[in-house]
Amino acid sequence: MIFSLLLPSLFLAASTVFAQSSSSTPTISAVGSKFFFSNGTQYYIKGVAYQLTDQDPLTDSTQCKLDARQMADLGANTIRVYHVDPTADHDGCMSAFADVGIYLFLDLDTFDTQFDQDNPYWNQTQLSAFEAVLDAFQNYDNLAGVFVANEAMTRLNGSDAAPFVKSAIRDVKAYRDMKKYRDIPVGYSGADIPELRPMLQNFLACGDDPADAADFFSLNVYEWCGSSTFDGSGYSHLITNSTGVQIPIFISETGCRIPKPRLFTDQAAILGDDMAPYWSGAIVYEWIEEANDYGLISYGSKTNSDNPTALDGYPRSGTPSPVSPDYSNLKKQWATLSPSGTAMSDYTASAKNLKAIACPTSTSGGWIVDAAQTLPSLGQTLDKAATSTGGLGAGGKGAGASATKKGEAGKPGYHVVEGGMFVWLWTAFVAGVGGLLIWL
Ligand SMILES: *[C@@H]1O[C@H](CO)[C@@H](O)[C@H](O)[C@H]1NC(C)=O
Ligand SMILES: *[C@@H]1O[C@H](CO)[C@@H](O)[C@H](O)[C@H]1NC(C)=O
Ligand SMILES: *[C@@H]1O[C@H](CO)[C@@H](O)[C@H](O)[C@H]1NC(C)=O
Ligand SMILES: *[C@@H]1O[C@H](CO)[C@@H](O)[C@H](O)[C@H]1NC(C)=O
Repeated sequence: MIFSLLLPSLFLAASTVFAQSSSSTPTISAVGSKFFFSNGTQYYIKGVAYQLTDQDPLTDSTQCKLDARQMADLGANTIRVYHVDPTADHDGCMSAFADVGIYLFLDLDTFDTQFDQDNPYWNQTQLSAFEAVLDAFQNYDNLAGVFVANEAMTRLNGSDAAPFVKSAIRDVKAYRDMKKYRDIPVGYSGADIPELRPMLQNFLACGDDPADAADFFSLNVYEWCGSSTFDGSGYSHLITNSTGVQIPIFISETGCRIPKPRLFTDQAAILGDDMAPYWSGAIVYEWIEEANDYGLISYGSKTNSDNPTALDGYPRSGTPSPVSPDYSNLKKQWATLSPSGTAMSDYTASAKNLKAIACPTSTSGGWIVDAAQTLPSLGQTLDKAATSTGGLGAGGKGAGASATKKGEAGKPGYHVVEGGMFVWLWTAFVAGVGGLLIWL
């Protein structure tokens, strides 16, 4: 999902948050292709997307407590939040979630710092904003990981934005390490675009230097609808396509909503024998019922759309009340699914021997980024027209490499996807015709 509203006056001041961290909360780290709690148990995500409006949802402790309690009833152990205000106080909400064993995956970017595939750049304004969010949340033990971007690339000819996203990962990791923060996983949440698969995933993971690579990759996947199956949904192809990737992968959004009711039978594949040996769980889109009709709970009946306390007519706070039967369908699935995975002590040695996957090669009419390309430095922009000179504009300074060559210019892709809330639903494998994209 892409949020298109603008947030007012974010990032006005650097924030210093003295978090009250609960010593009983184990932290999460990425080891090889798995996540582990610091107590050695493998971490599988049972998550819900939590963004009640376009504003930071982690500032109202009373609301967070109500939601955390209901999420514990649902069986969730993770939330995903897309937009926060790093200057706000998050202590109450983060401990409300920690108290019920719920971890946070957090998007570092927001409306005015996100990547634009038509005009890719990575600069100090973005990095400083990302650093402010990391500063504000790093001290919470239940911060599971951060995304530098969500669905930044949605077209084949947008793939030359990928090096900029990877530079952001590199620079956020360097900042994390320079500040001596714990090894908070830094990764990317991708749109499920068949033509970018598996190149984008492999590109973000590849390379000889782990400091440049993503700590994890994740996908927003709406392929499994109704009572589909592991093979019929396309999930089996996602697993095949991730063979050999040395970092954790998970589903950062899922939950096809047509046909209704939502059955969430995909959870049995994700957290069962089909996928749990390879991937790390999933985040269901989304907590609140609103106009897009993906909600698991509502805060009361829909009202007039001009009601100022109920954006678009949907109440945005209060006591959560389950959307039936979707909520209980998901709860029933999760109640039966608790993969034990691998113990960290049994895995760490072999994880050290994992080799990074090879960088994808650029192809005519396909993936644009050359495997030998070095990452842009902070401050560089992409001149899409200047392919013969390498395509990167001047202005590089600071961290990272500067010399950059680039593959061929963008070729026409498939579909234009611009702004607004959208969902890609790939039914290619269901239909058996390959590559059919459908608007949901
Ligand atoms: C480690 O912590 C997680 C999260 O609190 C918990 O589910 C798991 O049972 C713990 N494992 C051990 C071995 O204590
Ligand atoms: C980064 O790029 C944005 C968009 O072009 C611009 O507004 C901002 O001033 C740039 N920051 C720096 C430090 O150049
Ligand atoms: C990825 O999966 C597709 C089918 O979805 C398959 O055609 C392709 O060969 C796979 N690629 C890799 C690298 O596994
Ligand atoms: C990228 O592809 C889309 C169609 O998918 C096309 O509309 C757009 O013009 C292309 N952009 C460039 C820069 O070639």
